[in-house]
Amino acid sequence: MMNTERKNISTIGDIWNEFSQNTGFHGVNKLSGITSRHKIRLLLWTCVILSCGIYLTVTVVEEIKNYYRYPTTMTQYTKPQNEIEFPSVTVCNLNSLNKSAIKNYLEIDNYYSSISPFATYSNVATNWSDPIFEQEGFYLDRTLEDVMTDQKYILDPDGLLVYASFHLSSLDIKKYFKVKLTPNGACFTSNPDMKIKTNHVGSVFHLTLLLDLDSANNYYGSSYGEGLQFIVHDSKEDPVFEGKSGFYVEPGREVFASVHKTQFEYLPKPYEAMGNMYCRDHTNDDGSEYYRSSCYKDCLSTFLLDRCNCLPYTHNRGFYNQTELFINCDCPLPCKYTHYDVSLTSSLFPSDFYSKKIFDVIGAEDLDYYR
Ligand SMILES: *[C@@H]1O[C@H](CO)[C@@H](O)[C@H](O)[C@H]1NC(C)=O
Ligand SMILES: *[C@@H]1O[C@H](CO)[C@@H](O)[C@H](O)[C@H]1NC(C)=O
Ligand SMILES: *[C@@H]1O[C@H](CO)[C@@H](O)[C@H](O)[C@H]1NC(C)=O
Repeated sequence: MMNTERKNISTIGDIWNEFSQNTGFHGVNKLSGITSRHKIRLLLWTCVILSCGIYLTVTVVEEIKNYYRYPTTMTQYTKPQNEIEFPSVTVCNLNSLNKSAIKNYLEIDNYYSSISPFATYSNVATNWSDPIFEQEGFYLDRTLEDVMTDQKYILDPDGLLVYASFHLSSLDIKKYFKVKLTPNGACFTSNPDMKIKTNHVGSVFHLTLLLDLDSANNYYGSSYGEGLQFIVHDSKEDPVFEGKSGFYVEPGREVFASVHKTQFEYLPKPYEAMGNMYCRDHTNDDGSEYYRSSCYKDCLSTFLLDRCNCLPYTHNRGFYNQTELFINCDCPLPCKYTHYDVSLTSSLFPSDFYSKKIFDVIGAEDLDYYR
């Protein structure tokens, strides 16, 4: 019994001796071999080798964990460019309905009231069996043109856009502007195809607009306020579905807006773009480009088609639960997008002096004009 145990131990000792003398790990050979060496020396070497081994293991494990976390670094740089695409600007009149263009009946008035923000106060139910609605074509398939007759003119003469210039020369309104019907009414978008490019800085050479609000014809507006909403955006994005509200301008102001363009680019899956979310690659499965606003729009359309098998030009408030809808849409940020920061300064427009001059020339006072 004793003999065999002895023999066993000596065998393990032999193996250890042989291993420690021949292994490629430096230092291990100091742990055995010549037995005459001091015990302290052996202890010190053991400590050194053990701590080195632990350090190596910890570092390797950390690195592997780090690798599978797909870390990213952020780089920020300024790239000087000779020429950049001028962004699109969407301009909406907060009071886009034209009072004079809408038939003056109580029932119709109640209808517009019920789809306005004022509905929460007035609480009048629309009586759809009233013959006036059938008489006025409310049950017909309304085309975009029909819907637009209720709205103030936009690009037509006497409309919202009076004058536009770029690079100090006047722009062809029909070519560089497009009317768009949004849930908040008719708006127009400049430079819809991003055709306008610029190589200047400063406001003098760039987009200048003269706008007429026609406040006298204000009706139930999309907001309680009066004025204009401006949104600077990428022409391919739909600012309404991006949830952008841009900036508002009150009547009777001359406003200068300076725009700062920032482009964001994130690494696609498996890298986490923001927080613990992944961004979506810029191209969809079918090869078309992915835009978050289009995704929200598609999501809403699918929802509406599912609910009522119809797609309205404008839709009633409270018709669907928007909170729920936007939670249910799978529309992550794209991996590449552009953001425009805008800063503003403004002054009174026109000055009292010019108001009097304009009054003398045109015979009209109180012109609410914007630049
Ligand atoms: C709705 O209009 C119809 C037709 O004018 C009328 O007979 C009915 O009483 C109205 N209903 C209400 C609740 O006012
Ligand atoms: C509003 O409607 C009236 C009547 O149709 C029209 O004369 C006027 O030009 C319209 N105003 C705008 C800004 O479209
Ligand atoms: C809409 O949906 C959200 C989330 O499901 C819920 O919290 C909210 O109360 C709903 N609002 C209405 C008006 O039903």
